[in-house]
Amino acid sequence: MHYLIDELTTEMGKAFETAGYDPALGRVQVSARPDLAQYQCNGAMAGAKKYHKAPFVIAQDVANALQASDILENVQVVKPGFINCDVNTEFLTGYIREMEASDHFGLETGDPKTVIIDYGGPNVAKPLHVGHLRSAVIGDSIKRIMRYHGDTVIGDIHLGDWGLQMGLVITELKKRHPELPYFDPNFTGEYPAEAPFTVSDLEEIYPFASKRSKEDKEYYAEALENTHRLQEKERGLYALWQKIIDVSVADLKKNYARLDVTFDLWNGESTVNDLIPGMVDRLKKEGYAYESEGALVVDVAEDSDAKEIPPCMILKSDGAALYTTTDLATIEDREARYNPDAIVYVTDKRQELHFIQVFRAAKKCHLADENCTLSHVGFGTVNGKDGHAFKTREGGVMRLETLITDIDQAMYDKISSNPDIPEDEAKTTAHQVALAAIKYGDLQNQPAKDYIFDTEKFTSFEGNTGPYLLYTMVRIKSILHRYAESEGAKDAAKLKVASPISKAETNLMLDLSGFNAMMDEAYRDFAPNRVCAFLYQAANDFNSFYHETKILAEPDVQKKESYIALLKVTLDIFEACTAVLGFTAPERM
Ligand code: ARG
Repeated sequence: MHYLIDELTTEMGKAFETAGYDPALGRVQVSARPDLAQYQCNGAMAGAKKYHKAPFVIAQDVANALQASDILENVQVVKPGFINCDVNTEFLTGYIREMEASDHFGLETGDPKTVIIDYGGPNVAKPLHVGHLRSAVIGDSIKRIMRYHGDTVIGDIHLGDWGLQMGLVITELKKRHPELPYFDPNFTGEYPAEAPFTVSDLEEIYPFASKRSKEDKEYYAEALENTHRLQEKERGLYALWQKIIDVSVADLKKNYARLDVTFDLWNGESTVNDLIPGMVDRLKKEGYAYESEGALVVDVAEDSDAKEIPPCMILKSDGAALYTTTDLATIEDREARYNPDAIVYVTDKRQELHFIQVFRAAKKCHLADENCTLSHVGFGTVNGKDGHAFKTREGGVMRLETLITDIDQAMYDKISSNPDIPEDEAKTTAHQVALAAIKYGDLQNQPAKDYIFDTEKFTSFEGNTGPYLLYTMVRIKSILHRYAESEGAKDAAKLKVASPISKAETNLMLDLSGFNAMMDEAYRDFAPNRVCAFLYQAANDFNSFYHETKILAEPDVQKKESYIALLKVTLDIFEACTAVLGFTAPERM
């Protein structure tokens, strides 16, 4: 099935053609003035030059040709040459029925692709902070959107597990516990199964070591040395590193599980360590990489660059690999293992230049297949109400854990005030709604935009918030539930929507009819924010319909059954939306 907007465009194009104009001018879009019409076409303005005619005249010719249409109606020409129109309600109703009968409500899927999404990207031994929220939530949603679209998607967390921060932690552990066997070069036995530290120890050790390395040159040199020895896989340090990974990863898994964010691969920078020397050799041999001021670089500037793109550094002058190097080796590794059609990276937008360099170098040096699309989705900063980076009340870095706990609590306070909901359920529901508050608060923004984390606003049951949407879904569920229990009730899934009676009902159906095209755009543009905007508009229109319509009390059985059918398809579509955003509605709240 085609998207409704495309069907309307075809119909409009035919009218242009009948009137003697180019059918390509007939592009229809949702009206910018919904008070005047549902749809509009601006093609007459575009055709004015070509046909040396006033746009108004062209528009009138087209409007006359549209008299014969049984799809577009209420056609009106508005100066200077807008063609406003509505869709025929029978046609709209038929379209909604067809959506219900189609897979994924008529979303066109095309050939399924194999895609790797690189998101999350936490650094081992450093606590997750609010900045990590965005990569996790946006990346997870893009993954879900792609899966909904039918692609095979592999989510890789790409841990930061191999850089200087590991050397810092090792150095500090050695200072505190020099007696540990990991530091004894003569030790040949088995290392203890138990890690000699907890995750809280690590969280204290890393910032401590990082601070000290900035003040103490000798300490810093030692950390570099230990990083190097680790990267050479010195037995003791490598075993200790493994312990750090185990403890950290267990904690990361707990945190991501609380966010209901999952990964298929828990690879990291370390995964490709052994591939780096071979890759570097090849880049040298094939003439892509050359020495410049002691470092090894690949040129990636292009003639059409508006700003200077510096060469991509592969090895530092001391021979150390860089962030860029591991990213290039990771591309080569992913190609070899998965032969992906696309790789998508979700990181802070301040890494834009890094990814421009990496992508260009990967293509130039044939590390990535010609046909593999490399994309970077860069996101903005999470700010507090003061416009600065989001902090705790005490002014410290906001940990992700604390943030989730705070929002859980705020939601629990609201939900537990409902005396019908028992304690246990209130807790589970509070977390479910908290996830919606957090994720929707983030995803409703274009990824690249900074946004203000406003706890009060995000947790409100009113306005453009996750809880409001869930509340609306709970309302629909409750009506469907009461209907199912009423006398003479039929299976809601088998009932058919009939032509809308009120304007509010029409508006809701118009919203729903745009679901498939919207989902396609969200897919192509990596834009969960479109799903959010769709949901919010449709939820508002549903609530208007609900407030002015007697649904269960409707005495005309046919009408009532049609309303129930509409509620059912509304709920199904809303559930498809929240599923790709990464949250679900409870039964009550
Ligand atoms: N660990 C990195 C950071 O904290 C993010 C990793 C993103 N992924 C990648 N392949 N570079 O900034």
